[in-house]
Amino acid sequence: MCGIIGYIGKKQAAPILIESLRKLEYRGYDSSGIGVISSADGKIVFRKNKGKINALCNLLKFSPLPKTTCGVSHTRWATHGAPNRINSHPHVDESGQFLVVHNGIIENYEVLKDSLIKKGHKFLSQTDTEVVPHLIQEYYKGDFLEAVKKAISKLKGAFALGIISSNHPDVLIAVRVGSPLIVGLGKDENFIASDVPAILEHTRRIIYLKDEQIAVLTKERVDVFNFDGTKVKPQVHNVEFKVDCVEKQGFAHFMLKEVHEQPQVIQHMINTRIVRNQLKLDGIGLSDKQLKRINNVVIVACGTAYHAGMVGRYAIELLANVPVAVELSSEFRYRKPIISNKSLVIAISQSGETADTLAAVREAKKRGAKILSICNVLGSSLSRESEGVLYTHAGPEIGVASTKAYTAQICMLYLLSLKLSLVHGTIRSGEFKYLVKKLKEIPALYHQILKDKSNIASIAKRSSHFGCFLFLGRNINYPSALEGALKLKEISYIPAEGYAAGEMKHGPIALIDEYRAVVCVATESDIYDKMISNIQEIRSRRGKVIAIATAGDEQIKNHAANVIYVPKTEQLFTPLTVAIPMQLIAYYIAVKRGCDVDQPRNLAKSVTVE
Ligand code: AGP
Repeated sequence: MCGIIGYIGKKQAAPILIESLRKLEYRGYDSSGIGVISSADGKIVFRKNKGKINALCNLLKFSPLPKTTCGVSHTRWATHGAPNRINSHPHVDESGQFLVVHNGIIENYEVLKDSLIKKGHKFLSQTDTEVVPHLIQEYYKGDFLEAVKKAISKLKGAFALGIISSNHPDVLIAVRVGSPLIVGLGKDENFIASDVPAILEHTRRIIYLKDEQIAVLTKERVDVFNFDGTKVKPQVHNVEFKVDCVEKQGFAHFMLKEVHEQPQVIQHMINTRIVRNQLKLDGIGLSDKQLKRINNVVIVACGTAYHAGMVGRYAIELLANVPVAVELSSEFRYRKPIISNKSLVIAISQSGETADTLAAVREAKKRGAKILSICNVLGSSLSRESEGVLYTHAGPEIGVASTKAYTAQICMLYLLSLKLSLVHGTIRSGEFKYLVKKLKEIPALYHQILKDKSNIASIAKRSSHFGCFLFLGRNINYPSALEGALKLKEISYIPAEGYAAGEMKHGPIALIDEYRAVVCVATESDIYDKMISNIQEIRSRRGKVIAIATAGDEQIKNHAANVIYVPKTEQLFTPLTVAIPMQLIAYYIAVKRGCDVDQPRNLAKSVTVE
């Protein structure tokens, strides 16, 4: 969601603040802004604009900023108040002494605003954020940090803040409660950012601020305090990402690049997690004895990660014979889930910052469950709140539509199912070896699918005019259908529904006519014939069928005019192979329709508010 950058040092801050902000564009935003302290007179100056960062840059051409070595910048994803210039960040108090950028939601802002108005403060925007600079000004008696501490003690909700003051031009303050914020350490310069890739070009020495911590940055040093005032010695991490991880490397879009990275992501997982045919699930945080005691699994996740979790359910129940429930985090947190100390809760999240998933995890912990997370981003909030973390190490995922993170999550769930089946004694050694062998083949199969992507592209382009899509799958590919529909609607804005094919006659068949396209997962399986029957029902109602089938299946051509073949693999692993055509269908349709593939409208990469 919103992105924050802050710089304090010796260099000109404005270009750094703008360029680093561009690296946060992937998070999703609708307006942007920058606020600095003028080196000439120590005054606060800010500019903001609706729309993309280029709109802000155009404004800066007409209304340039003064020379400056300290400031903050921000991309806003509107929550409170429309996406317009007034509501964009930064926000300042009316005396112009304190300037704030904010990510998150201040839940009690209305009460605070009312009381500040009664004290004579004047507000300009409809945002929750604007109360913060006013509160700081209200408490300011000459000590910047004290005023910030008093102000944040009044705030409820989740927030990351970057704050500067004209009274203290050599200080930048950062605050973290719930929303992610990191500090980057440089030589004679320091940074704050919502995410590591934004400042990788400048430093790899990172402090992941913890919840309820404040960092006070000058150009020479960074001091970190807990909210109770105690000074802490933060751990400094040396981040190993390569800068090219966050560049397109010749691909037209990050999404396309990330689709193509899937062979190497899965290969890396296999190489590091299966060593001499033994599973190496380092980080799992639970002994075999503890895993054996588990009598049920609950998976919590949102969006694409939820679909991966559904695949995980099939795999765990099939291999380990342990009952699994898969829950949307946003629903789970408001139910009274039945969880005991024999339950294992698996939280799946690419970002590890999804507010609903974090809340679900906290709810489950209260009920005594052990938390194992499957997460991509190192040091994320989720990883810190879990007993065990299985990192997918898929590398930064910049496209808002999740691709490589999804297949990495599924692959990790297969490994975990194998682990549980070994511990629970539900798998024979021959079967284990066979499945490991088949899993090891996946990267090569991925290369084959990607080599033949022109067929997928031409089918997608020919279908891009359809106003509505249905995605059908059965059994372990029911989640594939849901994911295919999600990908398409996210990036092309075409209404798309994912359904379990067996449900078609219970409603969705009413949608079928010559104006609908139906993507059917018809890979080789125990229920292949049933899928063929579904396809016939669609064709007899003149729906256009796009079938995803197993290479060598000639029969399918009698039923579908458009066939995308995926190489044969074990039925259990077909969600991995089917995922790529699903991603590419959505991609090519979105491109054909001229959509902003990497930054679809209204969406944020990590949903850090409820
Ligand atoms: C996927 O394409 C979406 N952008 C979205 O559904 C995403 O998977 C969801 O918001 C969960 O995010 P997380 O994995 O970071 O928790």
